[in-house]
Amino acid sequence: MCGIIAYIGTKNCKNILIDGLKRLEYRGYDSAGIALLCPNPKAGTSSPALELKIIKEAGKIKAMEEQSVDPLINGTCGIGHTRWATHGAPTRVNAHPHMDCSEKLDVIHNGIVENYAELKEGLIKEGHRFKSETDTEVIPHLMEKYMKKGLLGAMQEVVKKIKGSGAIVALSTEYPDELVGARISSPLIVGLSKEGNYFASDMPAVLKHTKNFLVINDYETVRLTEDTVEIFSREGKIVTREPFKVDWNISSAEKSGYEDFMLKEIFEQPFGVKETMRGRLSDGELDFDELNMSPDQINRLNKVQIIACGTSFHAALIGKQVIEKWAKIPVEVDLSSEYRYRDPLVDKNCLFIAITQSGETIDTLAAIREARSKGAKIVAITNVVGSTVARESDSVIYTHAGPEIGVCASKTFTAQIMVMYLMGLYFGRIKKHISKDRFQKIIRELENIPDKIQKILDRAGEIKIIADKTFKFTCFLFLGRIFGLPAALEGALKLKEISYIHAEGYPAGEMKHGPIALTDAKTIIVGIMPDDQVYEKILSNLQEAKARKATIFSLVTEGNEKIKKYADYSFQIPGTLEELHAILTIVPLQLYSYYIAKNLGRDVDQPRNLAKSVTVE
Ligand code: F6R
Repeated sequence: MCGIIAYIGTKNCKNILIDGLKRLEYRGYDSAGIALLCPNPKAGTSSPALELKIIKEAGKIKAMEEQSVDPLINGTCGIGHTRWATHGAPTRVNAHPHMDCSEKLDVIHNGIVENYAELKEGLIKEGHRFKSETDTEVIPHLMEKYMKKGLLGAMQEVVKKIKGSGAIVALSTEYPDELVGARISSPLIVGLSKEGNYFASDMPAVLKHTKNFLVINDYETVRLTEDTVEIFSREGKIVTREPFKVDWNISSAEKSGYEDFMLKEIFEQPFGVKETMRGRLSDGELDFDELNMSPDQINRLNKVQIIACGTSFHAALIGKQVIEKWAKIPVEVDLSSEYRYRDPLVDKNCLFIAITQSGETIDTLAAIREARSKGAKIVAITNVVGSTVARESDSVIYTHAGPEIGVCASKTFTAQIMVMYLMGLYFGRIKKHISKDRFQKIIRELENIPDKIQKILDRAGEIKIIADKTFKFTCFLFLGRIFGLPAALEGALKLKEISYIHAEGYPAGEMKHGPIALTDAKTIIVGIMPDDQVYEKILSNLQEAKARKATIFSLVTEGNEKIKKYADYSFQIPGTLEELHAILTIVPLQLYSYYIAKNLGRDVDQPRNLAKSVTVE
């Protein structure tokens, strides 16, 4: 959940590192630091040509950047880190990089060293002196112990000794022409360019400089020089690997005039959804080659198991409903963090689908490993090419939403929902549970979805007015049923994540079984109630809440003017098929959370305590 960037090449790299860290700030943002090999003004017979300079500071990257203005702090090899604290408070001392005792070696790390206490005790007994409370600091001291094996050899020893997870990068004044890195279950990629090579946690950090990448697998170590990359297996053998190219461009990782990434990403949804359909849906036909499944295999499926966390879990809940409805295959949905501990039943006719925007969520990764060990075929739905989940799955369906920088998911959610719709239809068609006419009707409507999302976005001002009037409420209940329920859950999650207001998403039918006790004049009920089979029932729930002095905000279908009799505020979404309305209703809910949070002065792109990819348990 921290962010790593490192560079070795021909360019001065201070700004490359700082710029890269800003692009990674969504991964962690409580402190930051850089270390560079800088020309030593005292270089001579007794002093080395290069010296190590470190700048680090608690708080946002800006605080660290302000300390780094000295022009002498520059060089062509350096490392940078933005931290999301796990062990030790977010202070300057605990910020990365961390040094060894000789102060020649510097290390950055994303992950957790689970056996750090034991390692630290041993190292202290051997005379090593620690400065911070972090688990990471054992790494430079361990490397120092093994430096006789060279910088890479020392890193390989670390990989053998530490338990837990980590992406690690180190540099040393003794090896000024190289950077070394290692990966143990935390994301680490290599970026390749003519002017030098990069390590990074995520592609947006270096998209400005390259679109060519190499993935690094678990327990591999890497040595980068200005113009070479060597990857080594756990056993120390050289590994050959082809680079891949991404088609993301740098503007997709910039705000492009929007106030926040989140707002930009909400507005990018028509494009993200269209891109996700592209190549899969054309001329009324659906193509899903990437699934790598023959019609025979699909016909034999007796169960689909979907696992995911957070927002991706809500996409899974929509997936369950459409796959069951259109393809008549039973679907189980689990939170990844629960799945792996509940001894689940899997067999070879069960299709296992993991939904994960980042492709790095540790619980999702652990769940797919569990399912694989039981013989399931794994399909990943992810937004990040080359991510760990993508690499560990039998097939990958990419959502083509472009990089998502805001910590909370928006455009990747609607892209995930689109994949779920396409998959449900595809299975339904192959299993012959959906007629050609119905299939064509749904496809035609899917093709209208980007325009309908755009129509909602064009009326963002109406949502802002409602948010401006309601942001002081302290309890929000989002109610929905059937396809409206995942939207209600997601609406509540968005609101609590970025505004820090207490919000619950609830099945409207369950109101009387408890939550109605919460309802009073400080409560706002958000009813997700487009025209469908449960509209009248939700309307009754709202009336019950209104009778208890709650304020009502309803999302209804275009043309529903009657709602104004019951609701204090309402917003009309374009009409669509019952199964498809969640991909529309979520858009005003994202905007609603956004404007409430802005009213409260929150940092919507980097909400407190959250990180974009959760790579620790
Ligand atoms: C919510 C959010 C998180 C993620 C969750 C799973 O806005 O961003 O709840 O959805 O951490 O992440 P992925 O999809 O990367 O596995």
